[in-house]
Amino acid sequence: MKYKIGLGVVLIFAITQLFVAEKTPFIEPSENDFIAIEQPEEKVELMLKTICYDCHSNQIDYPWYTDIAVVSWWTQDHINEGREHLNFSEWGNYSGEKKEHKAEEAWEEIEEGEMPLESYTLIHRDADLSDEERELLVEYFKGIEGKY
Ligand code: HEC
Repeated sequence: MKYKIGLGVVLIFAITQLFVAEKTPFIEPSENDFIAIEQPEEKVELMLKTICYDCHSNQIDYPWYTDIAVVSWWTQDHINEGREHLNFSEWGNYSGEKKEHKAEEAWEEIEEGEMPLESYTLIHRDADLSDEERELLVEYFKGIEGKY
């Protein structure tokens, strides 16, 4: 009996593995990339690249566990939704008005602790921003909001 249950679990897992969510293709940064255009200071650049770009760019860094189907459904959903709202790789194609609006949303979300997503920082501990790092990003995006 135990053996059969074990086998059943393995079978179900194997079947779900046929449906790993489709990953976002990696595209090298172009001249439309946020960092290429805005040239933020190094600390800001590093935070954007290692954290925000994991859901808001064409350069998603997929950890190994996103190859597990049940995990991939959940993480890819965040990535698809995140990129729909804001794609830093497409920054150059945004109008000045849109840039300012997205920058405003960015500092608001960061200030309220909504970004990066909590489900993300739980696993990526280094993305759990300190008050200082949060403040730096908030001030940075406020600067962009007033720029265009
Ligand atoms: C784990 C994926 C993930 C990470 C990491 C992440 N985001 Fe998001 N982001 C989302 C999702 C999903 C949404 C849309 C749903 C929501 O607003 O909660 C979103 C929404 C946003 C929005 C709102 C855009 C709009 O038009 O409403 C902004 C701005 C934003 N994110 C900025 C950032 C910044 C800046 C970082 C880095 C500090 C970041 N995000 C990190 C997934 C992510």
